[in-house]
Amino acid sequence: MHWTKSVVTTVVLCAIGVSAGAPAVFGCPIHDEVMGGKPQTSASPSPSQAAQSQPTGPEWWRHAVIYEIYPRSFQDSDGDGVGDIKGITARLDYLHDLGIDAIWITPMYPSPGIDYGYDISDYTAIDPEYGTMADFDNLVVEAKKRNIRVIMDYVINHTSDQHKWFLESRSSRDNPKRDWYIWRDGKGETATDKGRPPNNWQSWFGHSAWQWDEKTRQYYYHYFYVQQPDLNWRNPEVHAAMDGVLDFWMKRGVAGFRIDAVSRLYEDPNLRDDPYLPGRNAYGDRNIQHKYTDDLPEVHDVLKEVRRVVDKYPGDPVLVTEADEPNVQALSKMYGNGDEVQLPMDFQIADVNELSAPRFRELFNEIESNSAHGQPEYFFSNHDQPRQWDRYGDGVHNDQIAKLMAVLELTTRGTPQMYYGEELGMRTTDPVRVEDVHDPIGKLGWPKEKGRDGERTPMQWDSSAEAGFSTATKPWLPIPSSSAKYSVEAESKDPNSILNTYKRLLALRKSELALRDGVQLSVGNDPDVFAYLRKTGDETVFVLLNMSSRERTLSFKPDELQGGGISRLTPLYSSTPTATSISPAHIVLPPFAALVAKVQ
Ligand code: NOJ
Ligand code: MG
Repeated sequence: MHWTKSVVTTVVLCAIGVSAGAPAVFGCPIHDEVMGGKPQTSASPSPSQAAQSQPTGPEWWRHAVIYEIYPRSFQDSDGDGVGDIKGITARLDYLHDLGIDAIWITPMYPSPGIDYGYDISDYTAIDPEYGTMADFDNLVVEAKKRNIRVIMDYVINHTSDQHKWFLESRSSRDNPKRDWYIWRDGKGETATDKGRPPNNWQSWFGHSAWQWDEKTRQYYYHYFYVQQPDLNWRNPEVHAAMDGVLDFWMKRGVAGFRIDAVSRLYEDPNLRDDPYLPGRNAYGDRNIQHKYTDDLPEVHDVLKEVRRVVDKYPGDPVLVTEADEPNVQALSKMYGNGDEVQLPMDFQIADVNELSAPRFRELFNEIESNSAHGQPEYFFSNHDQPRQWDRYGDGVHNDQIAKLMAVLELTTRGTPQMYYGEELGMRTTDPVRVEDVHDPIGKLGWPKEKGRDGERTPMQWDSSAEAGFSTATKPWLPIPSSSAKYSVEAESKDPNSILNTYKRLLALRKSELALRDGVQLSVGNDPDVFAYLRKTGDETVFVLLNMSSRERTLSFKPDELQGGGISRLTPLYSSTPTATSISPAHIVLPPFAALVAKVQ
């Protein structure tokens, strides 16, 4: 599933494969990435130095690196084949050494597991599959010792159909909780005929968004799975109940929330039909524009309310929104007037889906000049979309490209959000047979839509059969064969591995003032090379990313870089062996090379 707003785009991308947009590049030289102990390596601070300077104080989230953990797949501590909280706690040292500052954990609340935790049946408890509340409290304490903050998932649009609120709501038309969800009569309904759904609204996961409920003879609305009825955010009691959820977790010491599916909170009260678009989706439905069920202005009142609730607590709580906004103007609205969220996830940049210097330049320029002057949040992988190793890789130079993407993610001005295993170059490993699929959309849309299991496979800790993830012989999802080579154990030993590249870059982000605080300014207009400066006070860092399979030689005049006076570039990181001092008038960039250099 490609998590983009346009259904048309989604279908096209899914149909032609995830790396559809990547340049088809073959027969070009594969460059040896061994740095051979070159000075640029030693110029970088060691990861442990970096870990000592974790961000603290107000606006900590500006300098933080967030790491998303899918708890089912990170580390199993009790041998049942499913990851758990104790497993996460056991791996905090790894995360600390890596140099990350906060973990966002996807839902661990009690859930029937239809949408693997995103169908919550109790917001203020821990699913026994993941452990106990004591385990959770211990995780927060242990994380804090390592300066790692814990961000929870706040799934606000819908509950599970097994949540007691919904069980009450569906029990009778006059139940006090009836109006906590969205119930409507069918069209042409009679005492004996359920008629048709109230309108043409479609579920993101396929087919009508309305589900007939025989007992009370009405339809309820669900933007996602049938088992995920939407809460009615027009009911003040829902607000009070959900605010209580925020209080519950804030009191337990969490650092904030990633708010799920935020743009879907409200629907048109007049139930107008959504407009159709050409073509059909992977489920065989007519494509539709979610005009009346997405991004209604009332969403911002809720975001302001969430902000007010969390701001009662110390520590500058962070709010991250999952809202796949179509452009920077829509994205910027999520900041409000500084009274909504600090970090709206940027899906435009995540979903460029091709190594295109002009496209990245255009989007980064737009976000740099966003009218709200907000802090961007960049990511390339998460539990809903194919991993970046495949999505940006060309099938030949994927490891090189993975490092290039790491440089892009970790040297731009924004808060990076990593996804577990991206630091290893974990790849998407889709199920091969429909009978092995877990994610229901993969069953419904097979074979066009294989679901999201492929990006949720267990973390690859070592090269053993279970990858160090579990002692179970059959973990909940199979261990990808790539774990033989791509694991924490194997990559730790190789100074030029993807893992050590991430560590080096994460350390640089902390040690270089310009990478921490600097503005970002694009340089030049090259069709292959995305180049930008990060600049604060007297400190300037120059980043060059050759997004093509061609060797490129670039030449910059001094005034292009810093208003004149610069004569040398000192590499801080280079993906290929390079001199210790480079003239800006003659920069040679091998295919897919990345160079991060201090401007002097
Ligand atoms: C977004 C989550 O990231 C996704 O995994 C989930 O299926 C939907 N929201 C519904 O909660
Ligand atoms: Mg377990």
